Amino acid sequence: MRRTTRLQDVPDLPGIRLHTAVDVTLLWHATGVELGLDDAPLPYWAFPWPGGLAVARHLVAHPELVAGRRVVDLGTGSGLCAIVAARCGAVAVTAVDVDPIARAAADLNASANGVDIAVTRRDVVAEPPADVDVVLAGDVSYEESMASAIHRWLALASAAGVTVLVGDPGRTYLPPGLARLATYEVHSTREIEDATRKRASVFTLR
Ligand SMILES: C[S@@+](CC[C@H](N)C(=O)[O-])C[C@H]1O[C@@H](n2cnc3c(N)ncnc32)[C@H](O)[C@@H]1O
Repeated sequence: MRRTTRLQDVPDLPGIRLHTAVDVTLLWHATGVELGLDDAPLPYWAFPWPGGLAVARHLVAHPELVAGRRVVDLGTGSGLCAIVAARCGAVAVTAVDVDPIARAAADLNASANGVDIAVTRRDVVAEPPADVDVVLAGDVSYEESMASAIHRWLALASAAGVTVLVGDPGRTYLPPGLARLATYEVHSTREIEDATRKRASVFTLR
C-alpha cells in the first residue's frame, strides 16, 4: 500500500491526508499480484470518492452532527468519512468495508491523521441496524445489488432512529426519495471519474 500510493492532502479538507493512488491501473495490477487474483477488486480505497468528499465537507461544516455521537462509516474505502467524523469529535467511530485491503487502508490513514477508529470485518448489512447514533455512507450507489442491500439497511437504521447521511454525485442506483441537505463541488481525478470537478450531494432519509 505504501509502495503504490502517496500520502496526499485531500482538497478542501485542510489537515486531512490519505494514501492516494497515482496510477489506478498499476495499483490494480499490483493488488492482483499481491492477492494472487486475476479479478482483484478495484482499489476503491485508494481515492477519496465524490460522495465521501461531500459527506466529509458536510461534517466539517456541521460538526454537531457527529460530535459526542457514535458513528458508523459504511463502505469506508480509504476511511475518509470515519477519519473526518473522529476529527469532528465523534466519541466512537467504526469503519466498515467488505474489502480487506480497504480495512487496512482505513487503519493506515487513521494513523496518518492521528485519530482512533475501529475497523470491522463484520458484514453489517446482513445484521440488524447498528446500535449507533449516526451512519455515514459515501458513494455506495454505483452497483445494483450492493446498493440495494446497503440502502435497505440504511432505511432500517433510519426507521430505528439513527441519523443517516448519504453522499452521492448522482450514481445510477441512488434510490429516489432521499432528502437533500447540501451540495458541494468536489475535486476528483480522471483516474476514476470523467471530470476533475464533480457536484456531489449529502442526503438524509426522511
Ligand atoms: C466508491 S467506494 C467509497 C469509499 C468512501 N466511502 C469514499 O466515499 O471515499 C465504496 C466502498 O464500499 C465498499 N462496499 C461495497 N459493498 C459493501 C458492503 N456491502 N458493506 C460494506 N462496504 C461495502 C467497497 O469495498 C468500497 O470500498
